Amino acid sequence: MSAIVEGTQPHGLRNGDVLSHVTANGDVKAEALPQDPSSGPKAGTAQPTTTPTPTPGAANLPPLYDHCIDDLRPIKVICIGAGISGMCAAIRFNQRIQNLDFVAYEKNADIGGTWFENRYPGVRCDIPSHSYQYTFESNTAWSEYYAAGPEIQQYLLHTARKYGVYRYVKFRHELKGATWHADEGKWELKIQNLATGETFTDTCDFYISATGILNKWKWPEIEGLQSFQGTLVHSANWDSSIDLNGKDIALIGAGSSGIQILPQVQPIAKRVDHYMSGKTWISPIGFGSEELVERGAIGNFKHTPEELESWKDLKKYMEYRHKIERSVNEASLITIFGTETQKNFQLINREAMAKKLEKKPEIMKALEPNFPPGCRRLTPGPGYLEALVEDNVNFINTRIKRVVPEGIETVDGKVRKVDVLICATGFDTSLKQAVPIRGEDGVLLDDAWNPVPECYFGICPVKMPNHFRFLGPNGGPGTGSLIHLVETACEYMIKCIQKLQLEYIKSMVIQDQAAAQLSKHIDTYFTRTIYTQPCKSWMKRGKETGRVVTLWPGSAMHGMVAFRNPRFEDFKYTYLPETEHDRFSWLGNGLTQAQKADQVTTDYLDHVDPPPVVEFDKPETNGA
Ligand SMILES: Cc1cc2nc3c(=O)[nH]c(=O)nc-3n(C[C@H](O)[C@H](O)[C@H](O)COP(=O)(O)OP(=O)(O)OC[C@H]3O[C@@H](n4cnc5c(N)ncnc54)[C@H](O)[C@@H]3O)c2cc1C
Ligand SMILES: NC(=O)c1ccc[n+]([C@@H]2O[C@H](COP(=O)([O-])OP(=O)(O)OC[C@H]3O[C@@H](n4cnc5c(N)ncnc54)[C@H](OP(=O)(O)O)[C@@H]3O)[C@@H](O)[C@H]2O)c1
Repeated sequence: MSAIVEGTQPHGLRNGDVLSHVTANGDVKAEALPQDPSSGPKAGTAQPTTTPTPTPGAANLPPLYDHCIDDLRPIKVICIGAGISGMCAAIRFNQRIQNLDFVAYEKNADIGGTWFENRYPGVRCDIPSHSYQYTFESNTAWSEYYAAGPEIQQYLLHTARKYGVYRYVKFRHELKGATWHADEGKWELKIQNLATGETFTDTCDFYISATGILNKWKWPEIEGLQSFQGTLVHSANWDSSIDLNGKDIALIGAGSSGIQILPQVQPIAKRVDHYMSGKTWISPIGFGSEELVERGAIGNFKHTPEELESWKDLKKYMEYRHKIERSVNEASLITIFGTETQKNFQLINREAMAKKLEKKPEIMKALEPNFPPGCRRLTPGPGYLEALVEDNVNFINTRIKRVVPEGIETVDGKVRKVDVLICATGFDTSLKQAVPIRGEDGVLLDDAWNPVPECYFGICPVKMPNHFRFLGPNGGPGTGSLIHLVETACEYMIKCIQKLQLEYIKSMVIQDQAAAQLSKHIDTYFTRTIYTQPCKSWMKRGKETGRVVTLWPGSAMHGMVAFRNPRFEDFKYTYLPETEHDRFSWLGNGLTQAQKADQVTTDYLDHVDPPPVVEFDKPETNGA
């Protein structure tokens, strides 16, 4: 058998290069590719020699493939989504991966994802904004400690412009399906241009999914919902033209969205019926709240003009950023069930909630969960409990029977008429794919993930070669900064792609056994945590019990360490024609492109990380 090499060669091989072949009897032979007279020498690339150098005394050795080690295989990457994750890929992939063709398709009209879409009144960050930003782009002008949604979106727009994200994203283009073709080692993606309705296909070596974990909002399953004749709106699809002033409003849901909406609508509405049949903790202590205590602030605070001025000196700002981030990183200790820290945290929550609800203790009784705080995503709801006890708010924990044209009927037969019905009822968190994704042997991702959505390190789904996901199953942080974990996952993907580029590997896919073993570890880990307690949460696909499927088994910090060095031994590889018979052919002629082309070879001297100086003769520094 011999590899066929004719005409323009794929994967960086040029006509004239020498390729080694394994013949039918197992001998290795060299063959020079025919020279293409039209292709002159390319700056910075090695020129092929057509005659392999004979090796004295080693007649049976294969010939040398005349290839410079850094003549990297061209790679095309398609990323779906341009929220925080897709933006990170656009920025870092293009910075770090050479010979790259990068395209992102985004269904929305602009970048931002969550922060583009969620525009309900009160939407804001639940961790300090200082630790909800990219490591490489410090915003020294956050106006508030927990920034509001529009300010976060402004930050993302600024970052996208600054780092050239717009060069790569095609907006209003939606993924409709993806199929892996093993022979070619390519993904074929079906894309719809939402402006024209036209559908086309695009192919790539790597398909990256950055479509978010909370991106498919859905209407609640309540009988008659669409028969409502007033104004019906979902928190994640807000219509800012709605007038809430002086209206009778029904607000369903007290997840993170609902508890941010109530304090905004209560002061302007005539009446709010707040439907909440489940249980929840409303914590007085949010992520990074030590800073609130230090400043004597309640819920949130505005940064003073003086500190904003002083942060124009980036060094000063970074001191503050370190301080806040450190306190955010400490929060993971409350996630270990039964520890003193966890029990104290529950006590603090209980006392604070009971105090704020003194005026209406029946609400405390109805809301108090039998699971620990943090089991569902804990969002500090400044002003939520205060709004709940206001006279124009009815807390209704009787279950909803149905929606009728004029309002809501509860199971006790009572109908309450309203003008506006707000559903703050969350997202489709089933992990079911909106479109067919077909990997190895045509297997559908939905089937590969049934019953257990195995996604190694939250990045590599089983059976899906050359496919990575941001915040995939068991890849999101329970505590700490999500953006840093996204950045770490991004670097992981880059390392994998660089390996395939350098070593002329066609594809990599996670071994089933490695994914299964990791799953076992994940399940064991979570038995110790608050997340497996009986709370209904999107971390368990909207169920009260069952597998924790969205979180990384550890803190964000822990993930950063674990993701640092991909365990390449956990993957299966297939090879390109250049390497399928000799996996080391990419080592080539022993030279780099710059050496061969007589170009600058010393740029490594500009990137030295000097070791700490220990002047051995000086006792004050030598540690003796
Ligand atoms: C209201 C709200 C508030 C939140 N607040 C916080 C917070 O305070 N702190 C925190 O850590 N996390 C928060 N989160 C979680 C938040 O989703 C993440 O922090 C982060 O924004 C996720 O970024 P992402 O890029 O991974 O996904 P997303 O922001 O969801 O972006 C996904 C992108 O993919 C696009 N897309 C999806 N499907 C397709 C398709 N088929 N074709 C093309 N494009 C597609 C979408 O249009 C979107 O732009 C919040 C979530 C919500 C809903
Ligand atoms: N920055 C932030 O602080 C922020 C803000 C918003 C969202 N988020 C993120 O987004 C996630 C989702 O938040 P979310 O508030 O949009 O959704 P959610 O946490 O899933 O909450 C949905 C709420 O709607 C109720 N609900 C759902 N279906 C219902 C039905 N058919 N009838 C009656 N009630 C129903 C739920 O009650 P039951 O639980 O009783 O079913 C729950 O109270 C959060 O966990 C968080 O990660 C973060």
